[in-house]
Amino acid sequence: MNPQILFLFVLLLNLISISFQNPNPKSTPSLAHVELTNYGFPVGLLPATTVLGYTVNHTTGEFNVRLGGACKITLPPDNYVATYSKTIKGKIVKGHMAELDGISVRAFFKWWSITGIRSSGDNIVFEVGMVTAKYPSKNFDESPACEGKHSSS
Ligand SMILES: *[C@@H]1O[C@H](CO)[C@@H](O)[C@H](O)[C@H]1NC(C)=O
Repeated sequence: MNPQILFLFVLLLNLISISFQNPNPKSTPSLAHVELTNYGFPVGLLPATTVLGYTVNHTTGEFNVRLGGACKITLPPDNYVATYSKTIKGKIVKGHMAELDGISVRAFFKWWSITGIRSSGDNIVFEVGMVTAKYPSKNFDESPACEGKHSSS
């Protein structure tokens, strides 16, 4: 085969493989996942799931994320089970989410509603009312996959 034909052949193979590539949802983060990083948070705070809609009022910081379904994940590093409702609401400013509604975590045999999340240096601080728990942000570098179906409430 002469080099030119070989080149065309390789090009053609590349085009075919590109057009047949299955889009991987993990490699195409939603606008909401991207916005999370714009506000100084790691993407892993939002599970790798379908985001149907996302709004933020840049004046008040009020946001609303609509997921394709409720989602259950296991939070590193202590393996607490957390659930995400279909709708997550709250107020966001750079480095802080407040008045959160829609994320619960199971610890000490009880479900706790996470009321705020703060990004502080290399740490993520979860707020449950006045109680806080701090974890290194590197635990949240990747969006966790939802674990099976969690019945929506
Ligand atoms: C943002 O919120 C303010 C105060 O409630 C409201 O006046 C404004 O219209 C909102 N902006 C958008 C784009 O919804």
